[in-house]
Amino acid sequence: MSDERDKNGEAGAEKPNKLWGGRFSESTDSFIERFTASVGFDVRLYRQDIAGSIAHATMLAEAGVLTEEEARQISGGLETILADIEQGRFEWSVELEDVHMNIEAALTARIGEVGKKLHTGRSRNDQVATDLRLYVREEIDAIRGLFLNLQSALIDLAEREAETIMPGFTHLQSAQPVTFGHHMLAWYEMLARDDARLVDCRKRVNVSPLGAGALAGTSFPIDRARTAELLGFDAPAGNSLDAVSDRDFAIELAAVGSILMTHLSRISEELVLWMSAQFGFIDLPDRFCTGSSIMPQKKNPDVPELVRGKAGRVQGHLQSLLTLMNSQPLAYNKDNQEDKEPVFDLIDTLKDCLFAYGEMIPAIECRREVMREAAGQDCATATDLADYLVRKGLAFRDAHAVTGKTVAHTLAQGRELHELTLEELKGFSELIEADVYDILTVEGSISARDHFGGTAPAQVRAAVKLARKALAGRNPA
Ligand code: ARG
Repeated sequence: MSDERDKNGEAGAEKPNKLWGGRFSESTDSFIERFTASVGFDVRLYRQDIAGSIAHATMLAEAGVLTEEEARQISGGLETILADIEQGRFEWSVELEDVHMNIEAALTARIGEVGKKLHTGRSRNDQVATDLRLYVREEIDAIRGLFLNLQSALIDLAEREAETIMPGFTHLQSAQPVTFGHHMLAWYEMLARDDARLVDCRKRVNVSPLGAGALAGTSFPIDRARTAELLGFDAPAGNSLDAVSDRDFAIELAAVGSILMTHLSRISEELVLWMSAQFGFIDLPDRFCTGSSIMPQKKNPDVPELVRGKAGRVQGHLQSLLTLMNSQPLAYNKDNQEDKEPVFDLIDTLKDCLFAYGEMIPAIECRREVMREAAGQDCATATDLADYLVRKGLAFRDAHAVTGKTVAHTLAQGRELHELTLEELKGFSELIEADVYDILTVEGSISARDHFGGTAPAQVRAAVKLARKALAGRNPA
């Protein structure tokens, strides 16, 4: 610390040049200046910060706190700052601590004394909470756009592969045959819940803290409903203390994102398994894979692996935000500055993962013969045999026992149920007739599960229709 200080001359030699420097008698230590600054990351909020300031100035003029002319100068100045930032012509300064004070200082430098009036009836505490909510709201909409793209890709793939038969698993052991399309729609359902959670989360994001001031409100005759309206918020936040200190909305987004990443991670795991030589169910085009620097034969499913790994990253941010907010007394505390990096990173990560998956899902190549063959192995239609015996009059538990014996015999001989002769089958139950072969094939098993939510191709097609309709009704806000 002291090294840094020496470069700047003796601390306290000059009066500090800070927007808040009035009551200070020595300069901030230069390490502490960097340590407490957030401009390195909160520059991301510049658009929201400027929009919030313009709304605030507009409202102040309407309330008679500023003149129309003052508000016009302020808004005009802010517009030129916005243009400069966007064209990379704005110089950010650590000395000015954060995005808010950088912009405010630039405004005064450009338009003179009137710039100093912008902060009337406002604090950085309600300002930053407003900026972050505007940012999160916008990003939720962007995330939903990418998300709907991915979901629509899943629905298309489900339709394309409605007839494709694969083994369904429980305990990662062959359980009953299913269709690949049905499996894709299971993924769709998981993601549809995440989308509904995003929509719900957005409602609590879209509340305006502006006007809460530092914590207690302001003595100026402000119109909080007006700034809320100007910024597209549903309403002003109901309590000023809560408005400046609430970060639930960020935690909620992280929670929704964490569940979403759990889903993407589970999907990833299946893709990785299916692409292995041992399963061989699918292939992914080369453009989504990478090779090995030593093993020339390798083609690795990097995208699903990385998405699986990134789930931990997003879930870590949820934990960071929860811990950040633990034990914070009302109202604003500087701790809250630590909310931004996790929020930004989790948003970036979600967007990248959703974009990658939206591109990759339509490109999945199904190796239908391999899946079909695997689906016919390991006596996968044993449940169908038990159900058959029930229809012939046995109680299910007895039918289960008879089928279990039949399976043991079949597996011991390295055969499959449909390969047994009628004689052999009758040896296990006299109830078995020639029509048993209709239900012992995987196609028979699949088409028998012909009810709402079932795996029969007709049901998959019906579910595809429903999903398309639901998706069309869920356009981003
Ligand atoms: N950079 C700060 C943050 O991110 C802005 C609010 C600062 N408020 C204050 N009272 N120091 O939270």
